[in-house]
Amino acid sequence: MNRESLAIITQNARMREVIEKVDKTVNSDASVLLVGETGVGKEIFAEYIHRTSNRSGNPFVKISLSAMPAELLESELFGHVKGAFTNAMYEKKGLFEIADSGSIFLDDIDDVPLQIQSKLLRALESREILPVGATSPVPIDVRLISASKVNLKELVKKNIFRADLFYRINVVPIYIPPLRERKDDIPPLIEYFLKQFAPEKNLKISPECLKLLLDYDWPGNVRELRNLIQRLTLFAKDVITPLDLPPELRKNAPLEYLLKSCDKCFINGGLKLTDVVSCLEKNLIEKALAKSKGNQSEASRYLGLSLSTFRDKMRKYKIERQSF
Ligand SMILES: Nc1ncnc2c1ncn2[C@@H]1O[C@H](COP(=O)(O)OP(=O)(O)O)[C@@H](O)[C@H]1O
Ligand SMILES: [Mg+2]
Repeated sequence: MNRESLAIITQNARMREVIEKVDKTVNSDASVLLVGETGVGKEIFAEYIHRTSNRSGNPFVKISLSAMPAELLESELFGHVKGAFTNAMYEKKGLFEIADSGSIFLDDIDDVPLQIQSKLLRALESREILPVGATSPVPIDVRLISASKVNLKELVKKNIFRADLFYRINVVPIYIPPLRERKDDIPPLIEYFLKQFAPEKNLKISPECLKLLLDYDWPGNVRELRNLIQRLTLFAKDVITPLDLPPELRKNAPLEYLLKSCDKCFINGGLKLTDVVSCLEKNLIEKALAKSKGNQSEASRYLGLSLSTFRDKMRKYKIERQSF
């Protein structure tokens, strides 16, 4: 693993607390449960925990427990002996055994089927595993790091996650907040990813563009931001502007917003620019008057116009003052 993938970029106070909490537990062998939406950084935290622990010279094994049939999952985790089932032509070591003396990262533990949950619990409690088809258990020494997208307590309440397993894996709970709750991390992350993907280009983000990136709520969290920056670095020359952004990010751009509030201009297309501008002007004057409840000097101030210019435009567009 290179140092690059270890870097947890943050300047957010809550995230610093998370890192401090993690730092206090790295050498304790206690099981850590990382909880957070997809893309918040659970996996890099798991790597960080392993790499900074006293097990760092030993294996780090990760596996996603989602979307795998129970039988396959069991032999992935615990291995199987030769002939354990059809197609088991060779003995296979399970990931717990491969991770022996190191750490194992069970990602998406919220997706693990109940039948595997009890086997996991037994392995963790007894510190030994039973490969499929084996008659004697194999001792294992692993540090467990798990990750969940959802609050496992809710799954416990619904009886789809075993309470005893939950307490086993949740010795140190670590919650990683979504990116929209730590927007101060967006600028340093952008800078980091720009350097990572295009070190030679020295790319900058325009202030309007940064504003849109800060306004967006990032449902895919840091992963979504990282993918976007990677895509932008492919095409951008020197400064990235709002026009480079995909539509879901541009929807808050002032111009687009205004045009959207002025649907008439686009019904048949083919309108002249002057018509579009007039329509917008009329629309905005009406909106300003509505907001000021018909008070013209207040409305003119909203739009940064002198009162006389404002009145000229009202006349031009035949806007009646008594309608507000
Ligand atoms: N604070 C961070 N600093 C740098 N890169 C990050 C940070 N958080 C997430 N990433 C990157 O974002 C992507 C998604 O993170 P990941 O750890 O896989 O999220 P999760 O496991 O929670 O879905 C990865 O490429 C990861 O390296
Ligand atoms: Mg992940």
